[in-house]
Amino acid sequence: MSACTELTNHRDVEFDPETYVSMYYSTVAGEVEEGDILKFFLDGFNHAFKAGAITGAKLLDIGTGPTPHTPFCAAPWFDEITLSDFSEKNLEFLQKWKDGTVSHMGPIFEYLVQIDNSRSCTEERLDELKRKIKAIVRCDVTQSNPVSSTPVDGVVFDAITSSLCLDVASTNLEDYVESVRNLSSLLKPGGHLVLCGALECTFYRVGNIRYKNIHITKDQLQDIYQKEGFEILSLEDLNENYAPHKDETYYSDFKNAFFMVAKKKEH
Ligand SMILES: C[S@@+](CC[C@H](N)C(=O)[O-])C[C@H]1O[C@@H](n2cnc3c(N)ncnc32)[C@H](O)[C@@H]1O
Repeated sequence: MSACTELTNHRDVEFDPETYVSMYYSTVAGEVEEGDILKFFLDGFNHAFKAGAITGAKLLDIGTGPTPHTPFCAAPWFDEITLSDFSEKNLEFLQKWKDGTVSHMGPIFEYLVQIDNSRSCTEERLDELKRKIKAIVRCDVTQSNPVSSTPVDGVVFDAITSSLCLDVASTNLEDYVESVRNLSSLLKPGGHLVLCGALECTFYRVGNIRYKNIHITKDQLQDIYQKEGFEILSLEDLNENYAPHKDETYYSDFKNAFFMVAKKKEH
């Protein structure tokens, strides 16, 4: 495979679910270059949903990709789950996974069950998640009605999760703010937003493709969510809590990463 230097975006180049999973979700430790980023996110989602800290009837995951580990953590505490993504290939992949044709991320789900001290085994937790997934729909978080397909058009959710999506969906900080507003329109007042992403990053790689990321700092992020009507309940960053990643930039050039739990203000 020749080296690819051009940066592209998700609108122009179709996402390859199999390559993404094999590059980033084969093991919890992942590639040395990526440091503890996956563990940081997995621990974050586990902690956020542990013991029913966030519960509700309906949960939406935005930009699920082919990797449903985020709703896996939330599933015990919600009745109905909607997965969503921009890429048709990811939606097809998720449907195959739900139908049992595809089985992936075994070590990731096992790690989540282990750190959760769950009384259910991984298989039971996966069955529960699949049973609760009521829709797998197309989403474009940059649009004012991001999930417009039946049966979720017009639904307002009790909680929204999203991992590594908004910063690749947006092309600049103004766009990012619009995406936050679009996302917020799907969340009921008082509802929780559980979000993680890269900080100070300009790209990430899937196979030979390098997708653009918007460069955003922790302070900018905090400022945006507060101005857009969220109360930030916690905002952790990778470098404060885990070993910093090495200085190589084959997979991505992120300098840091964040994990945030926020609540949409009532007024
Ligand atoms: C880096 S992947 C993250 C996938 C998964 N959430 C994870 O944490 O591994 C980014 C995902 O965002 C999706 N995406 C890109 N632009 C989007 C948009 N405008 N609206 C919704 N999803 C988008 C991509 O299709 C891709 O699945």
